[in-house]
Amino acid sequence: MSIAVKSQKHLFQIPENEHYLNCASMAPLLKSVEEAGLKGINKRRYPGHFVASNYFDEVNLLKKHFASLIHAAHPEEIAIIPSASYGMANAIQNVCPKKGGHALILQGEFPSGRLALERWCEDHAQELKEIGPGSADSLDGKALNQRVLEAIKPESSILVMSCVHWMNGIRFDMKAISARCQETKTLLIVDGTQGVGVSPMDVQEYKIDALICAGYKWLMGPYSVAMAYYGPHFHHGRPIEESWRNRTNAQAFSDLTDYGRIYIPMAGRYEVGEASNFISIPMQSEGIRQVMEWSPAAISSYCRNLMQPLYAVLKKNGQEVDPTHQSAHIQGIYPPEGMSPAKFSEKLAEKNIRTSVRGAYIRVSTHLFNEEQDIQALIDCMS
Ligand SMILES: Cc1ncc(COP(=O)(O)O)c(C=O)c1O
Repeated sequence: MSIAVKSQKHLFQIPENEHYLNCASMAPLLKSVEEAGLKGINKRRYPGHFVASNYFDEVNLLKKHFASLIHAAHPEEIAIIPSASYGMANAIQNVCPKKGGHALILQGEFPSGRLALERWCEDHAQELKEIGPGSADSLDGKALNQRVLEAIKPESSILVMSCVHWMNGIRFDMKAISARCQETKTLLIVDGTQGVGVSPMDVQEYKIDALICAGYKWLMGPYSVAMAYYGPHFHHGRPIEESWRNRTNAQAFSDLTDYGRIYIPMAGRYEVGEASNFISIPMQSEGIRQVMEWSPAAISSYCRNLMQPLYAVLKKNGQEVDPTHQSAHIQGIYPPEGMSPAKFSEKLAEKNIRTSVRGAYIRVSTHLFNEEQDIQALIDCMS
């Protein structure tokens, strides 16, 4: 059971009169994350006392935090990477195609996974099958979940999907989907960028093969830090680059020209070169530490409560929200009749209401820095 949290707006620096309903684009920086960054800059000012362990300790702490957040069995199953696209490329290129098989992806999936999968399909002569909601702008999460389950077949080599749809907040039943993947021996690669940190995630319980998350949204990180979980399937794979710091002799700086051939265990081989960014890694660590202190379940519950008045308005407009298949923190809403999503977003921005346009919807997203008046401002503008 999660403990209820109250507004945490005081921990951020959000300008007066701004209604920031756009964490799905980028989180505002926590004051504590900013402080961690400044500390990193100070530390970096003079490197005279740096020792080898300085290059690894902060990274290891971040891996520990992320492993704990997603319930990975070992921090060694986590790799620190610069972006979701980097993590997707590492995972996807290590998937073996089934003979005469195909790859599956959600229609409208974020390009970071989609583009890597397109390349893999070309390289391995596998068909890329899209799982669509019927019409590109459907918000029927139940139907879409069902379509995903029906699409997974014994011939499916790989399924790449988000646990929460990045455009509209549709939530996927990862437990049911992964069970079907297990049954059909389909490798499951999940983009957790829009779900992890704000809804519970358990890679062991859900049996996810790889989970990739950019850190600058729901994990409260800076930018250019992402984290990947690579499960047992990937522990002996081939990384997209060959960084010296991912070898077992990496901490022996004087002997680096021994050119160590052994990778550090599990996911360590996939880590980006220069992963030990002295400024952004402690920032990301602090972001995840704070998220864990709040707890994803409590954040989700706060967002669900905040959204209730909006749900009531949507229902009046004929858009019923089904909480089983709709995340609490992201909601796609249609613009008023006769108005384009871009025009509606412009109108909202005139009232300092920050949202984003994604396909046919306005994407509204909330976090603990949002309060009732933010949702009320949106409702006032809608009417
Ligand atoms: C679902 C999803 N994945 C990944 C990203 C970011 O990808 P990358 O880190 O490759 O820029 C976003 C950004 O909006 C996203 O919504």
